[in-house]
Amino acid sequence: LDNGLALTPPMGWLSWTRFGCNTDCVTDPDFCISEKLIMQMADRLSNDGFKELGYEYVCIDDCWLATKRDPSTQQLQPDKNRFPHGIKYLADYVHSKGLKLGIYEDFGTKTCAGYPGSEFYLQQDANTFAEWGIDLLKFDTCYSDSHDNKYGYPAMSMYLNQTGRPILFSCEWPYGELQQNLTHDDYGEVRQYCNIWRNFWDVGDSFESVKSIVKYYGTNNNLFQKYSGPGGFFDPDMILAGGFGMSHYQQRAQMAMWAMFSAPLIMSNDLRDLPIEARNLLTNQYIIAVDQDPMGTMATKVWEFNGLQLWVKPILPKGSLAIVFFNTNNFGSGTPLSSAAGDIGMSDARGYNVTEVFTSTNLGLFKPSSKLNIRVNPDDAYMIVCYILS
Ligand code: DGJ
Repeated sequence: LDNGLALTPPMGWLSWTRFGCNTDCVTDPDFCISEKLIMQMADRLSNDGFKELGYEYVCIDDCWLATKRDPSTQQLQPDKNRFPHGIKYLADYVHSKGLKLGIYEDFGTKTCAGYPGSEFYLQQDANTFAEWGIDLLKFDTCYSDSHDNKYGYPAMSMYLNQTGRPILFSCEWPYGELQQNLTHDDYGEVRQYCNIWRNFWDVGDSFESVKSIVKYYGTNNNLFQKYSGPGGFFDPDMILAGGFGMSHYQQRAQMAMWAMFSAPLIMSNDLRDLPIEARNLLTNQYIIAVDQDPMGTMATKVWEFNGLQLWVKPILPKGSLAIVFFNTNNFGSGTPLSSAAGDIGMSDARGYNVTEVFTSTNLGLFKPSSKLNIRVNPDDAYMIVCYILS
């Protein structure tokens, strides 16, 4: 979507995978969807060094709404107990921290969790979000018909644009079609109206889930690649570093692959209680640089052999590369690999300055004939950045 936003993949935080639809602020006040939770996450993003690295969107997912629209104006309204000061107040707070506020709605008659949807109120809701100072809208597809989506997403995109406020548009449009067994292959149309778009099942806090997403992106590599670039990116869903379900190795493998996809780096975790390895991973300057590369290219899956995959992504300066070996095996002590640099993509005779990403270890200068000797752990990835020598 050509609205000046998402020139690189957006980065930030979203409530869903970690906090879901917990609305019980009476017995679970620190973990429920509330203005307090969102303000605390904004504090962490701005005080703990995330903001400076680009993590700027703090986003509320489903379950912030009251069960009914305002009966006299039909305006959307937040739950009064959990958001007592209203959304504008929250947006002002988030903006005062130098961050941006994202919110969630649904094109259908209800959100997935059953709160009032936007169907028949698109223009009014777009105006409401703009008045409140919203910077990103995640727009879901529950309780809608996929044929109506074809009208609904472009319409909402237009109404957001008409507000005059820059609002990043995050669409679940292709995913909605997948759920109804229709594949939406016309990503050109999606890209025309959306800044980022989900096209596959929700990520869960498990490596099985991450592997299923990587597999889908691998299978459709040719189709997807041509639509990724400044203004529009595929969204394989949230980054789960800092969660409960994956080992540190699995978490870093997810992060590496998302950077290779030029995917949004929108984490869903508890920033108030973040293990140090997860923090180091989320703030790794090389991974972020690969993700945020200005060309916004989606990596090419070069080969898969015995469960090991090779992915290569061109990055700037021109001729440079990011390379990931992604190991889908969950058994053994890893796959040793000895390869000429030229055979895994480093084919330019000028040579490359190569750094291993997870430990930030410089491996030195490589010519196409130089040998790279590595070992890729099971349930893990190995990632290098290769900067062209001039
Ligand atoms: C389905 C979406 O795919 C999830 O990311 C989340 O937004 C839920 N709906 C909320 O109900």
